[in-house]
Amino acid sequence: MISNVDISRSMTIKLEDIFDHLPEMPEFEEGIRRAPKRRFGLDRQETELALINALRYIPEKWHQQLAPEFLNELLTTGRIYGYRFRPAGKITGRPIETYGGSCIEGKAFQVMIDNNLDFDIALYPYELVTYGETGQVCQNWMQYCLIKLYLEVMTREQTLVVESGHPVGLFRSSSDEPRVIITNAIMVGMFDDQENWNRAIALGVANYGQMTAGGWMYIGPQGIVHGTYGTILNAGRLELGIPEDGDMRGHLFVSSGLGGMSGAQGKAVEIAKGVGIIAEVDYSRIQTRFDQGWVTKIIDDPGKAFEVAREYREREDPLAIAFNGNIVDLLEYAVEKDIRIDLLSDQTSCHVAYDGGYCPQGLDFGERTEMLNNDSDEFRGYVDRSLRRHFELVKTLVDRGTYFFDYGNSFLEAIYDAGVKEICKNGRDPLNGFIFPSYVEDIMGPLMFDYGYGPFRWVCLSGKREDLLKTDQAAMERIDPERRFQDRDNYIWIRDADKNRLVVGTQARILYQDASGRMNIALKFNEMVRNREIGPIMLGRDHHDTGGTDSPFRETANIKDGSNIMADMATQCFAGNAARGMSLVSLHNGGGVGIGKAINGGFGLVLDGSERVDRIIKKAIPWDVMGGVARRAWARNENSIRTGMEYNKDTAGKDHITIPFIPDEGFIKELVDKMSK
Ligand SMILES: NC(=O)c1ccc[n+]([C@@H]2O[C@H](COP(=O)([O-])OP(=O)(O)OC[C@H]3O[C@@H](n4cnc5c(N)ncnc54)[C@H](O)[C@@H]3O)[C@@H](O)[C@H]2O)c1
Repeated sequence: MISNVDISRSMTIKLEDIFDHLPEMPEFEEGIRRAPKRRFGLDRQETELALINALRYIPEKWHQQLAPEFLNELLTTGRIYGYRFRPAGKITGRPIETYGGSCIEGKAFQVMIDNNLDFDIALYPYELVTYGETGQVCQNWMQYCLIKLYLEVMTREQTLVVESGHPVGLFRSSSDEPRVIITNAIMVGMFDDQENWNRAIALGVANYGQMTAGGWMYIGPQGIVHGTYGTILNAGRLELGIPEDGDMRGHLFVSSGLGGMSGAQGKAVEIAKGVGIIAEVDYSRIQTRFDQGWVTKIIDDPGKAFEVAREYREREDPLAIAFNGNIVDLLEYAVEKDIRIDLLSDQTSCHVAYDGGYCPQGLDFGERTEMLNNDSDEFRGYVDRSLRRHFELVKTLVDRGTYFFDYGNSFLEAIYDAGVKEICKNGRDPLNGFIFPSYVEDIMGPLMFDYGYGPFRWVCLSGKREDLLKTDQAAMERIDPERRFQDRDNYIWIRDADKNRLVVGTQARILYQDASGRMNIALKFNEMVRNREIGPIMLGRDHHDTGGTDSPFRETANIKDGSNIMADMATQCFAGNAARGMSLVSLHNGGGVGIGKAINGGFGLVLDGSERVDRIIKKAIPWDVMGGVARRAWARNENSIRTGMEYNKDTAGKDHITIPFIPDEGFIKELVDKMSK
């Protein structure tokens, strides 16, 4: 029998290196949001297994004390978080030089992890949830401590492997290869469903990484504001007759959610110069957004909210109203009083509707948490009834002229799951999509992703605001606003970014760019680091992008050649980025739409000013984007075909994309008609 003493001696990186004695349970600060109890469906034997699994991190001398504590956590929260190993006090992403490490990347990723768990940023920081109700950095605090320790000792000749939050270990590599490779919740096909995942996560063998939560690349709600601004503005252009150089002045956008990503909606509609009413059931989240200046007024009466909105619309002044209440109640009022809503969406966390992501009509936020903790079956009934009513109200408003779009939160799928078959195009199942468009299908897909425009971002690791201002200026100088309307929008965005007070947490910026834009800006930033004009930079992107994500209900909703159910693109993107030397690569199951419904990946690249990094930028950045454009072109998306053809010309002799021939559809139809008779 192998003894625990021998096991401990065989490792030089372990929890005991950090804790010479069992740490005290840190205090839980009042007012910090806590995750609701998660579904716990383990039987007796599985419960024992979950405990044994968690104790793998713990030296034997502490087993007697921690086993009952962990069991209690499992029974009361549905998970073993290992709260005792949480650092006391607030976590925040500090300047890079304050972290220990053997290489710059090891320190840089510690900044990113701590920023993901910053108390001003994370949704449930004590439960390691960054955003999206369930998106975690890793599963528990033992993993957090070990990952940080590994990052401290890791050298340029090693790669840290993290599987669903578990640091598997350090393995030899070289400075041209990734320092960190992360996967989250990648499941074997036949088990890749919600039920098996619930079991796996309760057992402590899976983590829901969402996108940038488990990919350590979240930059607060700013990360989504640019995309939300582009979506609302372009929805207005498509549906409200706003000209290409116009804005949302005088128009009303209504939606729900002021959480992690949804919290961007108020700010985005204000930047687009429109009026927004965003419903939110949890007052603490409204308070957070209000304190940040991301919503301007808080109103809890629907009549008052619409009245104030009307005044601002008439004056053509921008305004973001937080309606403290349920979106369904807000829409009931709009339907009853026949109020005109121009654009309508929803950003409740419907991808986990039954796990607390969607607060049903008839329950306030506290009652929702209580019922979720005590009777998940009854809660399910409430959610289903509310979603069915929600659908009826949306349908009525659409009949009266409102443009509704799904915001990639699985809202339409949740309506279907609640028993509404009418939501499906074929009246049966979601195979051919839904009767309402998704924002990617109509807007982001054709106007952004198909060209390669996507959520490029960077973090100034020095933590200095002046570094951010210098990078904003350098990025702006690299955009030609005359090239396309998207470039003009992006130019205006970065020109006004500082004025719009977008930073929450580390000094970071989001800027939609296409392949060449991203590469040119990255090279300029690396040169600035080299010349010591600025400190080191972490470059990354949201996974919600051109090439990083296969998700038929969202990022690849405008892929119509049948390949929307394939996940080759996201997998190739991840593998290609690893091969080309990105500092971090990640691949996740689920993301914003739920387990089994998407595969998404991201990257991080530390700009240290070296020529080595210049080489990586030139190889990896165009690949990261153009792999996606190539797949979209092959699906016959017109804007991607055009972008691919230009790319073949511009990169002749280096890169080459296969472009599809387009047959005459009339001829094909006739032929099939004739030959199938
Ligand atoms: N913003 C984007 O561009 C984007 C892109 C893709 C997907 N999404 C999806 O949007 C959803 C929201 O993301 P998040 O990170 O903000 O999640 P979140 O859980 O942090 O926020 C959702 C918010 O909705 C509120 N809410 C729930 N039910 C409500 C109701 N009936 N009425 C009013 N408020 C209600 C919750 O209290 C919560 O604050 C997720 O499903 C995410 O995947 C967003």
